[in-house]
Amino acid sequence: MKKPDNHILVIFGASGDLTYRKLIPAVYDLFRQNLLPEKFAILGVSRTEISDEKFRDKMKGGIKIFANFKVDDDKIVDNFLQHLSYFAIDTESKEHFRKLKNHLENMNSNLETGDNAIYYLSTPPTLYGVIPALLGEVGLNTCSNGSWKKLIIEKPFGYDLASALELNKKLSKYFREEQIYRIDHYLGKESVQNILVTRFSNGVFEPLWNRNYVHHVEITSVESIGIENRGGYYDSSGAMRDMVQNHLLQLTGLIAMEPPSSFDSNAIRNEIVKVFQSFRPFSENDISKNSIRGQYTSATVKGEKLIGYREEKGISKDSRTESYVAMKVFIDNWRWGGVPFYIRSGKRLPTKVTEVVINFKPTPHFLFSKQDINNSCNQLVLRIQPDEGVLLKVGMKVPGQGFNVQTVNLDFHYSDLSHSYLPTAYERLLHDCMIGDSTLYQRADAVESAWKFVDPILNAWKNDNKIPIYGYPAGTWGPEKADNLLEEKGLTWRYPCKNLAEDGIYCEL
Ligand code: BG6
Repeated sequence: MKKPDNHILVIFGASGDLTYRKLIPAVYDLFRQNLLPEKFAILGVSRTEISDEKFRDKMKGGIKIFANFKVDDDKIVDNFLQHLSYFAIDTESKEHFRKLKNHLENMNSNLETGDNAIYYLSTPPTLYGVIPALLGEVGLNTCSNGSWKKLIIEKPFGYDLASALELNKKLSKYFREEQIYRIDHYLGKESVQNILVTRFSNGVFEPLWNRNYVHHVEITSVESIGIENRGGYYDSSGAMRDMVQNHLLQLTGLIAMEPPSSFDSNAIRNEIVKVFQSFRPFSENDISKNSIRGQYTSATVKGEKLIGYREEKGISKDSRTESYVAMKVFIDNWRWGGVPFYIRSGKRLPTKVTEVVINFKPTPHFLFSKQDINNSCNQLVLRIQPDEGVLLKVGMKVPGQGFNVQTVNLDFHYSDLSHSYLPTAYERLLHDCMIGDSTLYQRADAVESAWKFVDPILNAWKNDNKIPIYGYPAGTWGPEKADNLLEEKGLTWRYPCKNLAEDGIYCEL
């Protein structure tokens, strides 16, 4: 594995949850695998004044809970923590950025980190345009004598197409596209990358991977948690902006893309963008016909009373923000013409699961008894999480008299591999950025094309009160209306488990 150059990782938003739960534990896991350079430092930057010691203590707590590598020896973690320090600034003050520059220069000369830096923006999105501009204005973007500067930006990248375009424009004033790493942590998941390997390292799938053999595709990423303490953010975002515009469309891109000419960052990202550009735009009529939005309502799940979305902290009583989305999407190109892609995501569903299901066409003629569309379609299930793996559903003979068919599973679990260390998404993505590999990061044109597709839907939902929003009891699979998207008789979504709500009603809100 390539070792990164010596560098400083500067994390803006260091007092936030992401730094504590994901970023520092991920860098610690890299440290444990000896994947960090000989000379490296992490500088946490935030407004809050705290000492280096306090920052290290807090991060140690995060590492103990969230790192992949268990902390069995305090000495190792303390050794890692020596690389961490903290610097408080007002992230909107140029004067403070000058101080930051002096501080980084001193660090560089003391630690010999080679004037290389990654700036990680884990701040509220309102600062995504501000911080890079201030870095640029004080010269912290300059690369001299072969040194490098990179910028990682968390999602959401923009609020809509116009704001994403504006943000890209602002960034490009100070950083070149090759220096900008727009993160979508789904692309860092091992099982998401396995989509590429499943498709492009097995000759058996390619001939089938098109409109001639695929009946429809389901892409699901749902969670049993509600919006937790993120009411303020979530109510202005909703499931479409929070999950679909980024994570689910990226999954769709990997499933639908053409084979790239090489395994090179640009070649792969070119193909993903082509998929986004081929999404059939939703007409006004399609919006109510092919998209369903919902909001969870209170219900009892396993004896526990769960509150509804509108009762959550920070949510207005008449909010029409969706906590659930289901859509029927078409990709108008040669490979996928006419094949529906059903996409759904939601909070407070019965379980947490992300999976892609390729539903193959049924046999042209049913030879055996008890065959219908659901049990004569082979399904390839790419399980992204949990229990990462791949499952192929095939029909087999039930032993005994006659020819009865039963669907059985040919099942692969990642956990069956003897070397099944699964790096976390942030571990993978941070390391990729350190070594300069942007394959698993989003390019500007991809983000823009994704917004271009979802913008009209979001606008119609916002402006047209006649488009319904359906209430679904917490612990169920979302609005019943979502079933109507799969128009064909007898066809249903794949439900990996049952509804769990003991009460609650489905309704229009
Ligand atoms: C984040 C969303 O991007 O992804 C969260 O903002 C969501 O709302 C999370 O819970 C899901 O990520 P994962 O990796 O747990 O599926």
